[in-house]
Amino acid sequence: MVDLSTTYMGLKLQNPILVASCSLTKNEERLRQLADIAPGAIIMKSLFEEQIQAEADATQEHLWTSSHTEAFDYVSKLSMEVGPLEYLKLIESAKKYVSVPVIASLNCVSLKWWTDYAKQIVSAGADALELNISNIPCDTKHTGESVEKLHLEILQKVRSSISIPIAVKIGPYFSSLANLAQKLVACGANALVLFNRFYQMDIDLERMEVIAAHRFSSSSELNLPLRFVSILSGKVNCDIAASTGVHQGSDALKLILAGAKVVQLASTLYLNQLQHLEKVKKDMEAWMKEHEIEDLDSIRGKLSQEQSGKPEIYQHFQYIKALVSID
Ligand SMILES: Cc1cc2nc3c(=O)[nH]c(=O)nc-3n(C[C@H](O)[C@H](O)[C@H](O)COP(=O)(O)O)c2cc1C
Repeated sequence: MVDLSTTYMGLKLQNPILVASCSLTKNEERLRQLADIAPGAIIMKSLFEEQIQAEADATQEHLWTSSHTEAFDYVSKLSMEVGPLEYLKLIESAKKYVSVPVIASLNCVSLKWWTDYAKQIVSAGADALELNISNIPCDTKHTGESVEKLHLEILQKVRSSISIPIAVKIGPYFSSLANLAQKLVACGANALVLFNRFYQMDIDLERMEVIAAHRFSSSSELNLPLRFVSILSGKVNCDIAASTGVHQGSDALKLILAGAKVVQLASTLYLNQLQHLEKVKKDMEAWMKEHEIEDLDSIRGKLSQEQSGKPEIYQHFQYIKALVSID
């Protein structure tokens, strides 16, 4: 019998396969369905600041409609689905019928809402909080330093107002991710989630319009988180969760060998139904049996840069090797 159990930010999990923050976790019915397939934990859909603002301030509608009609429509739809109060109620009730840890997720802009709402999420009973800080800097005045500073400030503010574990979910676009990761840990992050997958854009040439592309990921997107999980594992003093491109049991095993504590699934559950999560677990168990591995701790991080004994293959050398092998 192989053992998939693990810990994540101090929470005891039956297995390392988490349902990522997405619309599959947005209401009671879906949360109940998810609980039946026994993931390690469930991360709830993010509550966005715009939803909180819209409910708190009726004049918000006027503000948005004057400049960003499309954005306002989207935010209105979000608010209609689950407003901030419903979100808190959803956490409360999920804690009654979901036997696995429930991790809330917050995406805010201003510091005020990050802290106010984080406290309410704690009162509602969430086991941990994932801060979805990801944004794409577009303003030429924003320096890399200022973007990093914002991440650290948000985390510091939230950390000083709540005591439950905090995971920070970030995108991959930082000039020195290892340095930022270390700073986030110093500011109190219990885990880093690598990575958020940004909205993919494309252009429709016929209509000459910007359109959404590739709503869901594929396993080929695994390489980016795989690289950074293996680089950061053992170097930063926190747990690492991998997100983006995890579709199969083999993807999850690779990330655990690279050093991830847990992996998060979103796209594959939309593409292959919720029950696919059970297959991911079964495939992991089958591989472990075949390789006579009893538990995940005995392999975790074996192929991280720190433990591999060949640190050079994670860096420039790998690039040279790849180039000379192409004629
Ligand atoms: C339909 C959909 C909705 C999502 N909503 C959120 C969200 O509210 N908050 C968040 O942090 N990530 C959200 N994500 C991103 C996922 O949590 C995940 O990080 C991303 O999809 C990459 O993982 P995947 O390759 O397994 O899809 C969403 C993804 C999808 C597909």
